Amino acid sequence: MAGAVCHNRYLNPTAQIIVLDAGGQYCHLIARKVRDLGVYAEVRASETAAVELAGAHGIIISGGPSSVYDSGSPTVDPAIFAVGAPVLGICYGQQLMAHILGGEVRKGVKGEYGLATLELEDTADPMFGGLGGKQQIWMNHRDAVGALPEGFRVTGRTDSCAVAAIAAPGRGLYGLQFHPEVVHTTRGQEFLANFVFRVCQCRKDWDPRHRVPAIEQEIRDTARNRSVFFFVSGGVDSSVAFALCARALGAGRVRGVYVDTGLMREGETDFVGRMANLTVEHAEDQFLGALAGVTDPEQKRHIIGEEFVRVQERIVESRHLMDEQWILGQGTIYPDTIESGGTAKAAVIKTHHNRVAGIQKLIAAGRIVEPLKSFYKDEVREVGRELGLPSELLDRHPFPGPGLAIRCLCSEFDAPVRATADGWVIPVNSVGVLGDARSYAPVLAIEALDHVRATELTNRLSGMNRVVAAVESKAPLAAMQIRACSLTPERIAKLRQADALVRRLSHEANYDRCVWQFPVILIPLGTAEAPESVVLRPVDSVDGMTAQSVPMDDALLRAMCGELLKLEGICGVFYDLTHKPPGTIEWE
Ligand code: XMP
Repeated sequence: MAGAVCHNRYLNPTAQIIVLDAGGQYCHLIARKVRDLGVYAEVRASETAAVELAGAHGIIISGGPSSVYDSGSPTVDPAIFAVGAPVLGICYGQQLMAHILGGEVRKGVKGEYGLATLELEDTADPMFGGLGGKQQIWMNHRDAVGALPEGFRVTGRTDSCAVAAIAAPGRGLYGLQFHPEVVHTTRGQEFLANFVFRVCQCRKDWDPRHRVPAIEQEIRDTARNRSVFFFVSGGVDSSVAFALCARALGAGRVRGVYVDTGLMREGETDFVGRMANLTVEHAEDQFLGALAGVTDPEQKRHIIGEEFVRVQERIVESRHLMDEQWILGQGTIYPDTIESGGTAKAAVIKTHHNRVAGIQKLIAAGRIVEPLKSFYKDEVREVGRELGLPSELLDRHPFPGPGLAIRCLCSEFDAPVRATADGWVIPVNSVGVLGDARSYAPVLAIEALDHVRATELTNRLSGMNRVVAAVESKAPLAAMQIRACSLTPERIAKLRQADALVRRLSHEANYDRCVWQFPVILIPLGTAEAPESVVLRPVDSVDGMTAQSVPMDDALLRAMCGELLKLEGICGVFYDLTHKPPGTIEWE
């Protein structure tokens, strides 16, 4: 499946670092972090034959959700350890390396998730040199290396992981049980820089801003004398792709449609509708009608996906896009392949609407241009800045395709809130992710805005994805209950109002610049008079794959609570204290 990842000789330099995708969400984050160092890196399927990697300066095996003992778990061609390029195994990658080279991996029962302290040997080895001593790292694993392969030695350990870093320096082989690619590993980027520059001797060859002329040339080569049509979402990717095409071909040859699903935020349609050469397709009734009575989160997503297909196919037909003069433009970015299960073993994280049936025909006929398909989100923003696009557009928080629907929780049953020794169990199922597997579980509410306690609780308690703080409410938790309800236009309107209010206050306090994304969620928790509650979910993240719940200034939080509780029907305000993993950013 390596072909699912784009390789465009014209557009990109040759990858010096190849990241072998062992099924984790983190493989793209690793490649992006290497690119941040100014070195072009690409992701390939883990089983890619060693001969195909012959030109690489270095190989990194990513983490992943499997155990090396699972049948069909990802593996690598053992010959990669002898091609001459240094190899770094991260998390599952370290375990796989040890397993293949004759060491032993021990199965863990509970696992280790979250922050830990690494004690790293002080060594002169280029990989670890300068990084010795104690430091904060981030772990996400169940199994661990027990016995080392011959020629390896342990260079780092934590309290609960005796083999947190290993090396066979003479052979250029290294392993890290923790994740250097996530921001929570404080010196993670230095580990990667040591590997890339000191071990692999890579040279700097990558800066996305310098690629604009090449991208424009590629658009012209692909389009030839044809025009480009876009479905614009209002997000950064499709807007930058649209602008690039308009620049490359002239605005007259680029057209776009924005679909209003009725699940958008307040003011969104007006904002996007101001873009040149763009029309708005109103499909609010179609989407809300199809969602009537639905409570199941997977079903919600599925229906929205299906309706998108219908609208898009209608537009393809009515605009005569199958005529030879049109090609389709898309804002697909590099990680989109993993998110639709496009690389070999990635768990399907969410459904994307990029590749629907009618559009497949255009793709199959090669009538598509995806100018950003080699770029990561941050790189897209850099390209956008190079084009002179306003920061109002480029610095927007990401907003999910299914819109407010995945922030408006439903329930099939009435159910009471239950008191436990650790807090209150709120019986509404929210989605979570542990070791890449998705799960639905109830939420625990505690009184204090205490992130440390929340992390302790999510680690200790099973059957719980999230911990929220009960910040303010019109009734005590004991008097609230979850009420059976589905997705209705009224509930979406209520959420839209709450979201707009939080966005306004957050913007006025400049808090929106301190967070990467700030979902506002409506849950059917309350009393007969006020049946709904709002959950605030401000998170910091690099690209959504992992996230930290972030605190908020007390005055701002109180102001938000005050305003939200004035809204008719809102009973309480909660604050999501959960990091990702184990809680996803969205609640669904
Ligand atoms: P989760 O909830 O999986 O979200 O932690 C990670 C990032 O992905 C966004 N997201 C989506 N984006 N369609 C999208 O276009 C979707 O179905 C979808 N689900 C989640 C989410 O907003 C966050 O930025």
